[in-house]
Amino acid sequence: MAHLQASNLFSVKDRVVVITGGGSGLGRIMTKALDANKVSKIFILGRRENALQETISQTTNGTVIPIQCDITSKESLETAYNAVAAQTTHVDLLIANSGVMGPPMKPPQSAEDGSLPPLSQLRDELFNIPMEEFNTVMNVNVTGSYYTVLAFLPLLEAANKRRPAPQEDVLAAPTAQVIITSSIAGFSRKVPFSFAYNASKAATTHLVKMLSTAFAYYGIRVNGISPGLYSSDMADHIFRASGIQGRAISDGSFPKEMIPATRGGSEEDLAGLIVWLASNSGGYINGNILLTDGGRISVAPAVY
Ligand SMILES: NC(=O)c1ccc[n+]([C@@H]2O[C@H](COP(=O)([O-])OP(=O)(O)OC[C@H]3O[C@@H](n4cnc5c(N)ncnc54)[C@H](OP(=O)(O)O)[C@@H]3O)[C@@H](O)[C@H]2O)c1
Repeated sequence: MAHLQASNLFSVKDRVVVITGGGSGLGRIMTKALDANKVSKIFILGRRENALQETISQTTNGTVIPIQCDITSKESLETAYNAVAAQTTHVDLLIANSGVMGPPMKPPQSAEDGSLPPLSQLRDELFNIPMEEFNTVMNVNVTGSYYTVLAFLPLLEAANKRRPAPQEDVLAAPTAQVIITSSIAGFSRKVPFSFAYNASKAATTHLVKMLSTAFAYYGIRVNGISPGLYSSDMADHIFRASGIQGRAISDGSFPKEMIPATRGGSEEDLAGLIVWLASNSGGYINGNILLTDGGRISVAPAVY
């Protein structure tokens, strides 16, 4: 029964991983989780060198290599790709995780008596936001994720070429995989509520499905994760708006009308998910979007 023990099921030993947005938030958690579980190398990409270094300082196994990269630039992606290719023959897992929220793009709220503000006010507030700010959200979350995947295809294909020859009754090694970080915003009309962010994450979710279809016969799997509310630079304003200072991972941190689990996502929640997806027992997962939200999407239409 050794093959069914957790140490075998969830082994990620010797994997080579690339993570964009590895310098903070969810990317940092995923980096720490994969480093703690003895992958071979993790290349973390992002624009801020100091943020990448801070992630490295929080890891213990010496697997993490920083590479400065702006995913909205094909030139920068190509340079990053070449830097990775100079240090590994293949990439088993690419996590396209970088993302931005952009400015709030939310309709004016109803007054206490339920009356709506004038439509002209809604129009002015939304129209005054420069189109460039809307485009930036799309550019990073959708276009940048898409070109990130394209950039790394050769190293993903190289991982498939290294797979051992089939042996009867021996479980095949997982094929190469892409994981794209989307969001429950891609399913929700109301949380966190930004026309640009929610629309971009709906597009990101659909991109996962399209890419998984496009690359299915190349043996490159594409999956998505859709987090709910995790403490990070991006999300902490939502925590603060709810009067929460810490990571809010204990019961009762949030009202159940907002998150049925009554807490935010923890490092353990995300680490377990990403290690499973990256592991031997994640090898049959393809074309999935995995929610990790404590049930938030189930009640999201009821609250902003
Ligand atoms: N936290 C949540 O509750 C939550 C929920 C749902 C989905 N998400 C998604 O999770 C992902 C990570 O977000 P987070 O919450 O961890 O927030 P975060 O700490 O703000 O992380 C965003 C990361 O994206 C990187 N990034 C932004 N623009 C980039 C660019 N042009 N090129 C390369 N990297 C870029 C940033 O690095 P640099 O600034 O150094 O480039 C940063 O490390 C995002 O896709 C986000 O939409 C988060």
